[in-house]
Amino acid sequence: MFFSLSGQKLFNWYQQAKQQTIINNIPLFELDYLLIELTNLNNLNLRLNNYQNNDQIISKKSLEELQNLWDLRVKKRCPVQYLIGECHWRNFTLKVTPDVLIPRPETELIIDRALQLTEQYPYLRSGKWLDLGTGSGAIAIALADTFPEAVIYAVDKSEKALKIAQENAFNLGFFKRIKFFHGSWFNPINELKNGFSGIVSNPPYIPSQVVLQLQPEVINHEPRIALDGGDDGLNDIRHLIINAPNFLINNGVFILEMMDGQGDFVEKFLINNTNYTNIKIDRDLANLERFALAYHRKKVIA
Ligand SMILES: C[S@@+](CC[C@H](N)C(=O)[O-])C[C@H]1O[C@@H](n2cnc3c(N)ncnc32)[C@H](O)[C@@H]1O
Repeated sequence: MFFSLSGQKLFNWYQQAKQQTIINNIPLFELDYLLIELTNLNNLNLRLNNYQNNDQIISKKSLEELQNLWDLRVKKRCPVQYLIGECHWRNFTLKVTPDVLIPRPETELIIDRALQLTEQYPYLRSGKWLDLGTGSGAIAIALADTFPEAVIYAVDKSEKALKIAQENAFNLGFFKRIKFFHGSWFNPINELKNGFSGIVSNPPYIPSQVVLQLQPEVINHEPRIALDGGDDGLNDIRHLIINAPNFLINNGVFILEMMDGQGDFVEKFLINNTNYTNIKIDRDLANLERFALAYHRKKVIA
């Protein structure tokens, strides 16, 4: 359903919403983002204030609904992406609800790394790939897009998240390319040992005590199951590093997202495992250590 809003009334609302935004220390661009996503106004309209004489501004929300949404942002600190119901990630628009983590820009780099790591072994691009903890389905969908010959497997312990991931895959035309599984890490795909060309995961990795101190947008709205990695934040990372070699083919790629500060531990844990080779701790665009990259090397038993 669409509403036709008076430009003058919308302008007046925007002016008072701006004040509310500034007083509450919310970035102003988020208010613009809300309007750009929910009405037919664009950035230039908002900058030039040239829509006041237009009495037919198309909007997905009434003025009252816009105010209610913005109250949720300002008073309840709800992330703007949940208010809009969508977020942009790589070249996709993904549905997001509080059942899924809002995919972060730095996670986009995982897909570039997958592409780079398969340059050496191009046959890996046509095999099976696994996204563990798929959430909104962001990584699984981007892998399906990047590797058109591959079949993608996506696992999540949250049934509600999996439903959103499936909806996103369907809406973006990748539903037939991704197989979805409900369960904990490798459990639902246990019969696919030695089967994957690549395993990718952005698991929960924040220490439980740190989770409690996160900004209200995160701790009060994003799913705890997507964040909390146990006492030291490394519970799931350890589990994935220990088990992934059983599921990778020889030379298969392993890519893990982690928190800055976990690189030393993760590197040593991968080395000590002895099933990985070419281990690299990689940085994001802010120069923080955020990813572990490795190949699986089968041990030759003499
Ligand atoms: C940090 S979020 C990542 C979501 C998405 N892949 C992304 O990058 O935006 C971690 C995801 O792991 C899922 N998860 C947590 N524990 C899990 C488990 N034991 N087995 C499978 N998935 C799990 C959560 O439900 C959540 O969707």
